[in-house]
Amino acid sequence: MDHRPLFLVTDPSGFEVCYQINPWMQPTAWRADPAACRAQAKASAAALKLALIAAGAEVETLEGVRGLPDLVFPANAAVVLDGRVLVARFRHPERQGEEAVFRSAFLKLKRRGKIREVIDLPEHLFHEGAGDAIWDAVRGHFWGGYGQRSSEGALGVIREVFGQEVVPLQLASPRFYHLDTCFCPLSGGEVLYYPPAFTEDALAAIRARVAPEHRIEASDAEAAAFCVNAVNIDRKVIMARAPESLRTTLAERGYQLVEINLDPFILSGGAAYCMTLRLDRASRPAAAMAAE
Ligand code: ARG
Repeated sequence: MDHRPLFLVTDPSGFEVCYQINPWMQPTAWRADPAACRAQAKASAAALKLALIAAGAEVETLEGVRGLPDLVFPANAAVVLDGRVLVARFRHPERQGEEAVFRSAFLKLKRRGKIREVIDLPEHLFHEGAGDAIWDAVRGHFWGGYGQRSSEGALGVIREVFGQEVVPLQLASPRFYHLDTCFCPLSGGEVLYYPPAFTEDALAAIRARVAPEHRIEASDAEAAAFCVNAVNIDRKVIMARAPESLRTTLAERGYQLVEINLDPFILSGGAAYCMTLRLDRASRPAAAMAAE
């Protein structure tokens, strides 16, 4: 495999907001002007792809499918580490049709040598992929969200399949239904997170593992702008348009913010991180990662 970060994204041709499975979704706003929303979605997705490439990444693009609008959120398709892909199982029937599409995309990527193995989750469990299992490259473990979309029992499967520790984080609010809406580890060891999204136990787990100087607490406005749902490549942090407060915080810590208008996708409850799936994550020793 080459050394550029590798991401999967989905072409937004099949995207729309036509049902509501999270509190942010606004089918009425989409229906008010579908043509304008579609045009902006196309521009937004193109800008995101360019930003990934400008940050040094390689991008694989999956075709959109009519009738599967949330296919544009491939973060939910699988958990990926060391070339192994654990395919998701969606909680809501509205998204279950995506499983077969993503699975066949992964098998194609395997044939092309981009990933090594495609693994299925046991039948009785739900898990919504990298949206709820975030690899912390500095600390060398997964953070596992559960309690809204993903089953707690799926965390043990992730532990087994990848042979890595998974720190469970119970999500307390339907507004922050995937871990990636409220939790983002950064390359320098900081973690950007939104405390009200978590139970007390989850907050204790975060605070036990992330030193105070590495904790960046997002404000209500920053979380509601979907800025915690960010893609971090080295010192670049790609996200939806951010409040000034977050620009300042991240600049002070030496990060370069890349802001993109992702409004049409926010109407579906998603933004930069969940519009991508990183395929090249490797479980190298934490020390080696931190020294990079
Ligand atoms: N409409 C999608 C859903 O509710 C949005 C998914 C966003 N993904 C994410 N990982 N936050 O499932």
